[in-house]
Amino acid sequence: TSMTLQASTENSFIKKLKTSGRSLVVFYGSQTGTGEEFAGRLAKEGIRYRLKGMVADPEECDMEELTNLKSIPNSLAVFCLATYGEGDPTDNAMEFYEWLQNGDADLTGLNYAVFGLGNKTYEHYNQVATYVDKRLEELGATRVFDLGLGDDDANIEDDFITWKDRFWPAVCDYFGIESTGEDVSMRQYRLVEYKEETPDRVYTGEMARLHSLKNQRPPYDAKNPFLAKITANRELHKHGDRSCMHIEFDIEGSKMRYDSGDHLAMYPVNNSELVEKIGKLTNTDLDTIFTLINTDEESSKKHPFPCPCSYRTALTHYLDITMNPRTHVLKELSEYCSDPAEKEKLKLMSSTSPEGKALYQQWIIHDNRTIVHVLEDLPSCKAALDHLCELLPRLQPRYYSISSSPKLYPNTVHITAVVVEYETPTGRCNKGVATTWLREKHPQPGVEPPMVPIYIRKSQFRLPTKSQTPIIMVGPGTGLAPFRGFIQERQYVKDEGKPLGESILFFGCRKKAEDFIYEDELKEYEAKDTLKMHVAFSRDQAHKIYVTHLLDQSLDEIWRVIGENNGHFYVCGDARTMAGDVHKIVLKSIMEKGQLNEQQATAFLKKMETQKRYSADVWS
Ligand code: FAD
Ligand code: 2AM
Repeated sequence: TSMTLQASTENSFIKKLKTSGRSLVVFYGSQTGTGEEFAGRLAKEGIRYRLKGMVADPEECDMEELTNLKSIPNSLAVFCLATYGEGDPTDNAMEFYEWLQNGDADLTGLNYAVFGLGNKTYEHYNQVATYVDKRLEELGATRVFDLGLGDDDANIEDDFITWKDRFWPAVCDYFGIESTGEDVSMRQYRLVEYKEETPDRVYTGEMARLHSLKNQRPPYDAKNPFLAKITANRELHKHGDRSCMHIEFDIEGSKMRYDSGDHLAMYPVNNSELVEKIGKLTNTDLDTIFTLINTDEESSKKHPFPCPCSYRTALTHYLDITMNPRTHVLKELSEYCSDPAEKEKLKLMSSTSPEGKALYQQWIIHDNRTIVHVLEDLPSCKAALDHLCELLPRLQPRYYSISSSPKLYPNTVHITAVVVEYETPTGRCNKGVATTWLREKHPQPGVEPPMVPIYIRKSQFRLPTKSQTPIIMVGPGTGLAPFRGFIQERQYVKDEGKPLGESILFFGCRKKAEDFIYEDELKEYEAKDTLKMHVAFSRDQAHKIYVTHLLDQSLDEIWRVIGENNGHFYVCGDARTMAGDVHKIVLKSIMEKGQLNEQQATAFLKKMETQKRYSADVWS
């Protein structure tokens, strides 16, 4: 039909490349925007080497066309692909990934290169990019340059620019391109400011549809979040200077449902003082309404964020103004410095020379400078705010493991969140965007409750289907969050008179009298015989005691649950190394108590993972 015909021409990246005289296409698999940003930078730089480039979302493309990219002379496909969770591709790359895995397309003549985005603290480090790089070759394609791997646990910006620096010469070499690769700085977006008349459609923080936060309409999701009332916000720490919040969101009437183990996603806003500071530092009236229009007419992305809006809205809702700026941002900022020393400093930091990288590492990463700090500390740099708005990454939603069970609380979602606040080496106080914002949101009697845009993200972290199945839960600190939901649910089922398997919790915190969160609730479950607890206090004595120490003393118990009784094992938390250590101890238990050799034990654990009997919900 004409419908499908139209859809297929729209999805034809080859057609787009041809009509706009391009030969480079950079696909991205991105969840938080970094992969997309890297893809954009590569596509933009192509012009230096006479390879006009275009960014493409594999989800919006007919990827089978890769078999035919060779019809464009000297064409190249680059893939910037992130790996998540248990070695999974991002949602937008899922279909492409499955097509590669299951298909046997002939990709002879396709020139390609892959850069991966991953995190070394996870077991399946960069699995997606590694697979795609290998698979494309198997299908006959030609690798133009070696696979690059970025580690978000270290310095992914450094990994990327280091790879890119060797990638371009290899590409030039391969295609016989003679180019100096001189710097051409180009704006991706054209600015329109509305000084006199105000346009009809002005965005004020919506994610997609205009007025979507005022005229709420289900279904609610990432593009259309639900404005939820905060009905409770209380402190969980009993003493000490840190803060952990228990927050309840009212979801009644939203038609949103959740399961224990799901995540709540929320859109925070940036601190208004920081936003005003940027206005001052760039001499811009933040009330000015503006729009940024992509100069690339073929691009499916017309604006970098919902436009038109005021600069204040862009800085408050749409842009990340607190992360460490990436090197390409510093490079473009250098153009605005009137002081040659400041200009040189920014240029150096954005270069790939050893001194440049060391300075970036020291001045930006170690000293933990945000864009605000950079502008403050380089006072001659009077950046154009619209250019900054083009360069800064999008503000991302924050995720929280839901700490309630829908069985008990079908109309409220609970979260358990630690407030992020720390001093930087330059003596500044950095505050977590979401948690410091939430901290001020307390419902008061007689006053409209605070509202927060949220949606539910489904997870794979699930209780066993049978309530008799025994479980072990390991959750130090806020890692306890999803297990509070699990335990509530187990109690509920028990109260219904159903048989219940053992529920064993390993919890850890600093001090019994300080941060033993939900202590009373947990003790009550213990008293009712629903829960068995092992608690590690790391700072109540001279030496550290962690959940891992307690697990190490419980190898029999672990094996009894997972080996003899076919139970489930869960681990959750933000301690980077914790999940890996726990994995090792479980392996040890399987070997020692299950009397398997290392290879057999590893296979045993792998099988548990594929059966979702061993699950991790970890973040850093
Ligand atoms: P941001 O503004 O994002 O700042 C945090 C960043 O600041 C860190 O990434 C780090 O780069 C930096 N930083 C923090 N402390 C320091 C320091 N001392 N020194 C230097 N730099 C530092 N959090 C919870 O509290 N509870 C949960 O249940 C929970 N569940 C999660 C589940 C998932 C799947 C994921 C991905 C994350 C989860 N998180 C949870 C983390 C949460 O999403 C946020 O990252 C966290 O609340 C911080 O957000 P923020 O906006 O306040 O801080
Ligand atoms: P610490 O801060 O005293 O080192 C919750 O954050 C608890 O987890 C704290 O008691 C913390 O101890 C502890 N913790 C930190 N790193 C850990 C790790 N690698 N394994 C287990 N627990 C850890």
